[in-house]
Amino acid sequence: MYVLGVETSCDETSVSVTLDGKVVLSNVVLSQIDIHKEYGGVVPEIASREHIKGITVVFDQAIKDANLEYEDIDLIAVTEGPGLIGSLLIGVNAAKVVSLNYNIPIIGVHHISGHIYASHIENDMQFPLIALVVSGGHTELILMKEHFSFEKLGETQDDAVGEAYDKVARVLGLPYPGGPVVDKLARSGKAEYHFPRPMIDSKDFNFSFSGLKSHVINLNHNMKQRNEEINIENFCASFQDAVTDVLVQKTIEAKNQYNVKQILVAGGVAANSGLRKKMKESITDIPVYFPNMKYCTDNAAMISIAGYHKYQKTKKVDDLMLNGSSRLNLVEEN
Ligand code: KG4
Ligand code: ZN
Repeated sequence: MYVLGVETSCDETSVSVTLDGKVVLSNVVLSQIDIHKEYGGVVPEIASREHIKGITVVFDQAIKDANLEYEDIDLIAVTEGPGLIGSLLIGVNAAKVVSLNYNIPIIGVHHISGHIYASHIENDMQFPLIALVVSGGHTELILMKEHFSFEKLGETQDDAVGEAYDKVARVLGLPYPGGPVVDKLARSGKAEYHFPRPMIDSKDFNFSFSGLKSHVINLNHNMKQRNEEINIENFCASFQDAVTDVLVQKTIEAKNQYNVKQILVAGGVAANSGLRKKMKESITDIPVYFPNMKYCTDNAAMISIAGYHKYQKTKKVDDLMLNGSSRLNLVEEN
């Protein structure tokens, strides 16, 4: 079954073709990062305009790279939410036009289910499993007992991890998106500053990162006022150490409580080198899978794979009333 995936929820215009929910035949990603960099973050209006400019070219390139014709496609899977509404609508409407024109069924996919299924490209899922979802908009622990079934164990009460990374980076004067830059600096630093580990001992699976973020930002501000020199590498290493301690500890607790067969880490922050290292060193009794780096941040291959599995589970598709939705609940939706 050839599934064409479409992802436009934020600042990447991406279209992919996959085979049987497993093999990636093409995955074209047109990133707008260089444009948004100038503004220190994603500007929604600009993002929509850039998606409009790129979307048809990206569709055609994905079909060409897969050595197929539109007529060969069996199903179109498109991110319906959550995300920036103007951006989502462009992907959803482009997908609907192709669906209508070539008479191909269409299915709406939750963006986070896509991030989770990015792991499945290289490593088959074994249930039950725990997925730690860490992106610019999400920080969640999800229990999956079978394909396309999601139970939320806990989530952030305020900032998402990626958001905290990006805000700390901005205060330190680092370019957008800050996550990869902080990660790189952290690699050559020592965790010598003492930062809090919020909610690390709480008996639930929720997270909170805004207090840690404020602590880091305030310390930076106070040190600057006192003309004290900040060792930026050590600063980043200390922030990363605090964040990853919390993420790893909570994942271990969820693993033990639910007796799962594997751990998946998903979303943009799954690209973080500190998280990858600490998670693999701390959990050795069951496999811990991280997606290939190219499938960590937003891409359409993961949406295509998730769409295939959603269809296999539900045997239902959407109709042309399918719409974008800036807020969409993973658990209620599926
Ligand atoms: O999943 P994603 O591409 O978009 C959302 O769905 O949010 O994640 C983007 C987020 C950004 O906040 C970015 O700074 C963060 O992932 N990120 C990282 C790293 N690479 C990307 N954060 C920490 N370390 C990284 N290496
Ligand atoms: Zn994402």
